[in-house]
Amino acid sequence: MQVIEQVASIRTIVQALRCSGKRIGFIPTMGALHEGHLQLMRASARENHVTICSIFVNPTQFNNASDYKLYPRTLEQDTSLLQTVGCDYLFAPSAEEVYPQQSLLRFSFGELETVMEGTHRPGHFHGVATIVGKLFNLVQPHKAYFGQKDLQQVAVVRQLVQGLGFDLELVCHPTVREADGLAMSSRNKRLNPAQRQLATQLYKVLQLAKQDLKQKPLAGIKSEVAHYMQQVDELSLEYFEIADPYTLQPVEDLGQRDEVALCIAAYVGEVRLIDNIVVNLNEI
Ligand code: PAF
Repeated sequence: MQVIEQVASIRTIVQALRCSGKRIGFIPTMGALHEGHLQLMRASARENHVTICSIFVNPTQFNNASDYKLYPRTLEQDTSLLQTVGCDYLFAPSAEEVYPQQSLLRFSFGELETVMEGTHRPGHFHGVATIVGKLFNLVQPHKAYFGQKDLQQVAVVRQLVQGLGFDLELVCHPTVREADGLAMSSRNKRLNPAQRQLATQLYKVLQLAKQDLKQKPLAGIKSEVAHYMQQVDELSLEYFEIADPYTLQPVEDLGQRDEVALCIAAYVGEVRLIDNIVVNLNEI
C-alpha cells in the first residue's frame, strides 16, 4: 500500500489509473478505523480494481472545537490495518494541503438540514459536502462507500452527487455492530468502560421502538423513548426521530409506507453518539 500526502501526487496516480482502465473504489474516512470501515474496504477491494482510502480529520465539519480536538487520531495503527484489507492507496493529507486558502463557497441542503444532525450540528453538512466534493474531484472514484450509521450524511452525499453530477455509484453499507449491538464508531474509543456499557442503550431503545411501531401512536413512542433515556444518569438524549429513510423528514403516521428510519442521537457522558435502523414495515 502506498501512502500519499500531496494533492498533486494523488492526482497523478488517479490519472494513470483511469488511463489504464482501472475501476477505483473509494472510502473517505477520518481515521481511527474500526471493523465498520474495514468492511467498506473489503467490499471495495472485491468490487473494484483499485481501492483508495482517505484519512483526514476535517476541521470544517466540526461545529464543536473540543470534539475536533478530541477526535481520536491513530494514523500509524490505521495504516497497518489498511494493509490487511486490500487497500492500495492511503491518501492522508494535511489541513494546509486540503485547504490552501479560505473558500467563500457555501453548501446548503434545504430541508435535509432542518432536521436531526442538521439542526444539532449547524454547518456540519456544509463541511462534509466541502471535503467529500474535494475528495471526489481528486480521487475520481467509480464507487464510493459510506456507512449507514451516518444515514443523514448518506442522504446529503446523494444530493451532492446528483446536484453536481459526479459520475460515480454511491454505496450505503449496513451499520456494523459490536456483539452487544453498539454501532461501531471511532467515537466509541473515547468511552470509559462504564460508558461503553451504557452506550448499548441506544441500540436497545431503537429495538424497543421498532417493536412498538405498529402498536402505538408514533408520538407516544417518541415520549416513551425520551422517558426511558431520562431514567439513566450519564445518558442525555438529543433527539429520537421516526423519519423517511431518504428525505429524513419526520413521519407523523405510517400510512401506506414501506419503510421508516428510527434515528437517535445521545450523549454518553461527554461523548455524542448516533445510531439508526431502517425498518421494513411489511416485515413487522
Ligand atoms: O463519515 C466520516 O467519517 C466523515 O464525515 C467523512 C465522510 C470522511 C468526511 O470527512
